[in-house]
This record gives sequence, structure tokens and C-alpha cells, in this order.
Amino acid sequence: MSRPARATIHLDALRHNLAVARRCAPDARAMAVLKANAYGHGLLPVAHELADQADAFAVSCLEEALPLREAGLSHRIVLLEGFFEAGELPILAARQVDAVIHQPWQIDALEAVDSSHPIDCWIKVDTGMGRLGFAPDEAGEARERLQRLPAVGTIRWMTHLASADEPDSPQTAEQLARFGSLGIPFGSEGEGDTSSAANSAATLRWPQAHADWVRPGILLYGASPFVDPSVHEALRPAMTLSSQLISVKTLPRGHGVGYGGRFVCPEAMPVGIVAMGYGDGYPRHAPDGTPVLVNGIRVPLIGRVSMDMLAVDLRPVPDARVGDSAILWGDNPTAGEIARHCGTISYELFCRLTPRVPRVYRRSSQE
Ligand SMILES: Cc1ncc(COP(=O)(O)O)c(C=O)c1O
Repeated sequence: MSRPARATIHLDALRHNLAVARRCAPDARAMAVLKANAYGHGLLPVAHELADQADAFAVSCLEEALPLREAGLSHRIVLLEGFFEAGELPILAARQVDAVIHQPWQIDALEAVDSSHPIDCWIKVDTGMGRLGFAPDEAGEARERLQRLPAVGTIRWMTHLASADEPDSPQTAEQLARFGSLGIPFGSEGEGDTSSAANSAATLRWPQAHADWVRPGILLYGASPFVDPSVHEALRPAMTLSSQLISVKTLPRGHGVGYGGRFVCPEAMPVGIVAMGYGDGYPRHAPDGTPVLVNGIRVPLIGRVSMDMLAVDLRPVPDARVGDSAILWGDNPTAGEIARHCGTISYELFCRLTPRVPRVYRRSSQE
């Protein structure tokens, strides 16, 4: 492998983070959210690593579910957006993949399908997210219709919280109250297997939301779901995005750096070029000053990010040389920190990492 850009995935961190979630929600089952290629970390390696700790996996579509079955994983797999067309139903039935049901047409489709392998369904209730789901006053009818169908197996309930990452928002309590008012046997009142509400933020911070199944996503990958960084100390970043300096040179005062000359050298200064760009998924709009770790020292990004390269101000590390390491995110700086510089969230940084970046899987014993 010649180009030095890579994403090292720390398998022990994934395990550690799921263990944190389980400790926070000891009475709930854990559905590890692996959609979008396990948030860019690699669907199958992450699934295999978490197979003995997770009770179920959640993905967004059949295309993400089938590789899990083909890899021999027999866990419950939940399609968070359900099925997109009736033609998928025979595959869901044959491969025993659960569907989230959020629209009446999906119930119509289940009414019309052959019933030899019933499909377990999760009725999605829109308790305030304003995205997928039946309104609370439509949920009972959806259940009645589903209960009559031989094509439907066990029926469970799901909702999604819009503001669990904001500890002071009243919305979570309001959503949970609406979910509770549906009369679903919740937590220990049921058989511990009827309902799910909690994403990562709620798993960590909202015990009232744990219900029977928690659905941690971002926390598995070691990024905080919160803006407040102090609440994610227990998590370990599962990805280190790194590369190397491929050029080091001194530019004179007044020299521009990169397209458009956004950065102008205020003095003669050493400038390093890192083999990492927006073609790898590093955000093109990263502003000057976004931190990059060169030889263990934080240096500021300067100039516009190009497709394959970005520039850094090497004045804090004047002895840096070609071949020296550059860490774009990991333990320091964290993906959350880079995301804040770029006006986004760590989720987006992870998901936008392109296939060009090799994912290298490591255990701490190999590091
Ligand atoms: C329905 C649903 N549940 C759970 C999650 C996991 O959320 P998080 O990554 O914040 O834990 C998501 C992610 O967007 C989701 O859409």
C-alpha cells in the first residue's frame, strides 16, 4: 500500500464502547446500529467484532442486512426504514429480517404477501421527531391491522428521540410521555422485549428511555452524541484517520497556500503537505486553524483542502520531515472536534470517508 492515507479501526475500542452502553442500560437488550457501512467503519468487521456482545443489529435497508446474513450472523436484524417496496417482502421473510413499519402502504403490502415465514415488525410511532412513524393516535389501528395478518410475526414498538443529545431540552420527556401513553407494556412490565426508544444519547443519559432495547450508534464508534465533551469520557474513539507529510518546504512571506490562496504566509514559514483531501472524505470546507496532529503536536490546517492533499503550518514542529505522521482525527484531535471546526457532526465525517481510504483493523495488542 503506497499512499499513506488510512483509517485504522480499533477493534477493542468498539467492544469497549458497546460494553459502556450495556453498563449504562443493564436491563435492556442492545441493538448495535451498523447502517451506512457501520458509520464508515466497515459493516462486516464491525458486526463480527460485536457479534458476541450485541443482541441485534440495525441497518437502514436490505442491501445492508443481507451481507450480515451471508456472513453467517444469525442475530435479529432490524431495517430502520422498513422495506421500500413490496417486492422486498419475500426476501425479508426468507432471511428473517425485521421491518420497521411506518406507513399504511406497508401494511397493505403485508396483507397481500404469502405468509409462510412471518416477518417480525416494529411499529414506528412519531412521538415528536417529525420524521418516520404513525401519529400516536394512529398507532393502535396500525397494530390492529398488523395483528390480523398471518404474514406478521411478533409486533414490537419503536420511536426515535429528536433531542436526547440536548440534556436540557424538555422534548425527550415529552416524547417518552407520548410513547408511554400508548399503553405498551414497557420494560419489566412486558417480557423485556416489546419496545425501543433510545439512541446513543438516551442510552448514556436517559435511563427513562431505555425500555427493552437500546439502539446505540455513534457511541459504538467512540464519538460523543453530545456537544458537551465531558460526558463521553468513557468512550474510546474507534477510528484514527491518518496520513503522512509528503512535502515539506519553506514558503516566503506573502506566499499563498492552495487554491485561491486563502492562506497567505505572514512570514517565511515551513509548510507541510499531507496526503489527505476531500477525495478521501476530509471536509473541503475545513477552515484555517482546524487542528492536525503532526508528530504528536497540534498544528493548524492552512489553505483550502484539495482533493488529495491539505496543507499545514509546520511552525510548531520545525523539525518535521517528509514521511512524518499526520493524524486528522482519532484520540487527538477527536472527530467531534474536527466536526465542530467544520460546522458538522462526527457522524457525517465518518460516513463521508470514501472507499479510497483503506480501513485497517487492529487490536491494541497489534498497535
Ligand atoms: C432510528 C434510529 N435509531 C438509532 C439510531 C442511532 O443513533 P445514534 O447514532 O445517535 O446513536 C439512528 C441513527 O440515526 C436511527 O435513525
